Amino acid sequence: MTNRVQIFDTTLRDGEQSPGATMTLTEKLEIAQLLDEMGVDIIEAGFPIASDGDFEAVSKIAAQTQNAVICGLSRASFGDIDRCWEAVKHAKRPRIHTFIGTSPLHREFQVKLDKEAMADKIHATVTHARNLCDNVQWSPMDATRTEDDYLARVCEIAIKAGATTINIPDTVGYTAPRESADIIRMLLERVPGMDEITIATHCHNDLGMATANSLAAVEAGARQIECTINGLGERAGNTALEEVVMAMKVRHDIMPFDTGIDTTKIMQISRRVAHVSGFAVQYNKAIVGKNAFAHESGIHQDGMLKHAGTFEIMAPEDVGLTESNLVMGKHSGRAALRSKLEALGFQLGDNQLNDVFVRFKALADRKKEIYDDDLLAMMADSTTSAGHDTIKVKFLRVICGTEAPQSADLTLTIDGQDHQVTAQGDGPVDATFNAITRLFPHEAELALYQVHAVTEGTDAQATVTVRMEEGGKIVTGQASETDTVVASAKAYVNALNKLIVRREKSAPAAMTS
Ligand code: KIV
Ligand code: ZN
Repeated sequence: MTNRVQIFDTTLRDGEQSPGATMTLTEKLEIAQLLDEMGVDIIEAGFPIASDGDFEAVSKIAAQTQNAVICGLSRASFGDIDRCWEAVKHAKRPRIHTFIGTSPLHREFQVKLDKEAMADKIHATVTHARNLCDNVQWSPMDATRTEDDYLARVCEIAIKAGATTINIPDTVGYTAPRESADIIRMLLERVPGMDEITIATHCHNDLGMATANSLAAVEAGARQIECTINGLGERAGNTALEEVVMAMKVRHDIMPFDTGIDTTKIMQISRRVAHVSGFAVQYNKAIVGKNAFAHESGIHQDGMLKHAGTFEIMAPEDVGLTESNLVMGKHSGRAALRSKLEALGFQLGDNQLNDVFVRFKALADRKKEIYDDDLLAMMADSTTSAGHDTIKVKFLRVICGTEAPQSADLTLTIDGQDHQVTAQGDGPVDATFNAITRLFPHEAELALYQVHAVTEGTDAQATVTVRMEEGGKIVTGQASETDTVVASAKAYVNALNKLIVRREKSAPAAMTS
């Protein structure tokens, strides 16, 4: 058995299923490109039957990807599998991933099939998938709560029907490391052919054990880890890619497994996923949190000055972390901006650079000192606000202070036409949001409003996150500006633009976790 562990990234499928994490097509294409560049082996690009938008995203990712296998998800039905194949078939290396819930609860309440009928369905659907594609992954959903005998039996059926990867999902984040390993060992012992296919582990983090469970499965023989950037995913999320990859790298002495990941790309993709999904990374998150490499206490700082190894088990550069340096101000030129952005991982064409330079100058006029984090927020913003947005903020002036009423005078460009209104509210942000609703009436409810300072100081940019819900559909908008109220207006409008796109999407029944 080889020591090479394949990294299967499902940020664009399981991660995007997380309520509010919806990404646009442009954002998905960008993330897929970054995943491919960082050396991910398999990208699960989406669930093609879920909507026309998902289908288009998977097809386009399949067409653009140079190295990684492109995988699409499908339920255990011929229609789902055919649609999945239509989306992935143009990839250099396509894969169909089909699944069914095999635990007693799933059999009885979700799929409503007894053991025999389910076994037949697995045989038929995996055979169908394999007739279309020679790379087929099969998952017994809720495997960790499935009886050993039945799990072994259905894995054998799937292998005989042609599955080339068998994935063992801990769908509800219920297992623990020892059990996770035992299940893999049990299958290797009992299922003929199990040692000839790839075994995958897919863990959710409900009890905070996803990383440990994935690594334990690898110790026992799994050679594919399914994970997401920043651990994005429904409920408590999925196994975090950066955690399992860095754990195997830093503790190679006790976990001698290799991946193909260029770890210096981790920070860049982590920031992009946080931005486009609207799910900020917690400050103390392992590997990618803002504080993961910060040393505050005197003893730690003293030790670090004497030898970095005293309190640091990996170097910040290993994960692509550059210090947030003072970079430039309003006298910096285009060449300096290009070179700084290249160092931060952005390759810009001349036209893009011109657009970004205009934004940079506007920022430099408002803010004396510009740090790496300011540039990252600015870049995140320029890729979020797509040129084809239905609604744009054209003008905003607010009156606020101790004397009520606070009011907002707002002009929005909606479908190319300017519309103006003045609205009042309980504070400048409330007045601004009321003005937006007057100009673009909608039923969506505000589910989250959050403000983060990008850097220190009172002239710091604010990144505002706005999450909205309409008829079960959740979207997240973001924007960064030195003026918090303008950032709020832009974030709200960004969420509305996403909602307009999202209204065209409808999810199929019995989606997955
Ligand atoms: O968690 C899960 O069971 C899934 C399957 C579709 C693999 O996401
Ligand atoms: Zn899952």
